[in-house]
Amino acid sequence: MVRGRSRPALGGALLLVGALFVACGAETDPAQERREKARADYRRYCALCHGARGEGYAADAANALRNPEFLSTASDEFLRRAIERGRPGTPMSGWAAQRGGPLAPAAVEGLIELIRSWQTAPDKDVDNITVTGVAMRARATYDIECAECHGADGEGGDFMSLNNPEFLFSASDGFLREAIANGRSGTVMKPYAGELTPQTIDDLVVLTRSWQVDPNDDPIKLPSTDLGDFVLNSDGDPPTFDDGRFLKVDALKQALDEGMKLGILDARPGSDYVTEHISGAVSVPFFAPDEYVDQLPKDTWLVAYCGCPHAESGLLVDALKERGFSKLKVLDEGFFVWKDRGYPLTEGAMP
Ligand code: HEC
Ligand code: HEC
Repeated sequence: MVRGRSRPALGGALLLVGALFVACGAETDPAQERREKARADYRRYCALCHGARGEGYAADAANALRNPEFLSTASDEFLRRAIERGRPGTPMSGWAAQRGGPLAPAAVEGLIELIRSWQTAPDKDVDNITVTGVAMRARATYDIECAECHGADGEGGDFMSLNNPEFLFSASDGFLREAIANGRSGTVMKPYAGELTPQTIDDLVVLTRSWQVDPNDDPIKLPSTDLGDFVLNSDGDPPTFDDGRFLKVDALKQALDEGMKLGILDARPGSDYVTEHISGAVSVPFFAPDEYVDQLPKDTWLVAYCGCPHAESGLLVDALKERGFSKLKVLDEGFFVWKDRGYPLTEGAMP
């Protein structure tokens, strides 16, 4: 894997540009501007789950990005792929513009630089480590030691997933072994080095690797910004929602079953919508309300949801309130509880 952390040529060019700006008496320094833009992007798109300074867990399962053991083993390429493509099927969206997110390539690089600036431990080259083991031998250990936090087969639970195709594509065997052996200080992921033998740790790596499947590389067809006639049951009665901010998933399901008139807005980036969304919902990403506001009715109840479970939907509802809407609800427990209940879901770009 390419680490590509230092770019002396680019750094030199930026210094030169900086010097020219100073020489011409201009006030702005491009490197400074880039850092400020990255901090603003981080505040807007990442802090709601990963915390204001990357400390993690502002939303469930959103890991600590400033963790020293994480940053010393995660290459720039690892971070880039995670940010651009996300971890489909988890609350971590694809944030690149090609995935329906708000970030151009330069903005992704700015975020990598910002996250890298939090690193306190030296880089470790984990990508040339060879691990040999037997998956079956680790099964019982995994069930006892790991499943309660990472899910029975690594699908995630209280904490992050281990079987995600995007994660396993990026994470080398050495990356996995380091994470298990040394843990992640300041989090509940403890070091297993003293507790399990090196061979058991390697067997756990091989078990984790056995869950790997190819990431989906099909080009994604993003949802249209033309919402069409998206109000559901347009001849039905309006629901009698209270004036509280939140609506429970069971109450939304019931309102739909009773044929109530309402609209459902998916506040996540477009790639999440395409992966799977609540049937009948339209995509209105929380970071771009103005592209849609003229198409939304003010006299119909609109229910917004996301996966985190309600931070992005809350931002969308607040933005719509500022623009004069009042019949708004935030889906309380969010997309993943709707999914766990077995309520209707649709894949692809259409409601
Ligand atoms: C809605 C909540 C949410 C938002 C917003 C979010 N993330 Fe995440 N992020 C997560 C979760 C949850 C995971 C772990 C996913 C899993 O189960 O694998 C994650 C994983 C990651 C990872 C991979 C970490 C690892 O150890 O594998 C990186 C890097 C990351 N996020 C960066 C970002 C950046 C940068 C942003 C802003 C552009 C962002 N995230 C926005 C929830 C979020
Ligand atoms: C008490 C809960 C808990 C248990 C038990 C646990 N983990 Fe973790 N694990 C976590 C958390 C939380 C993180 C992310 C920490 C952070 O914020 O950086 C993590 C991170 C990891 C990572 C890095 C994932 C990534 O995307 O960067 C691996 C690999 C991992 N754990 C494997 C294991 C294995 C194997 C076991 C059992 C031997 C185990 N964990 C037991 C909570 C747990």
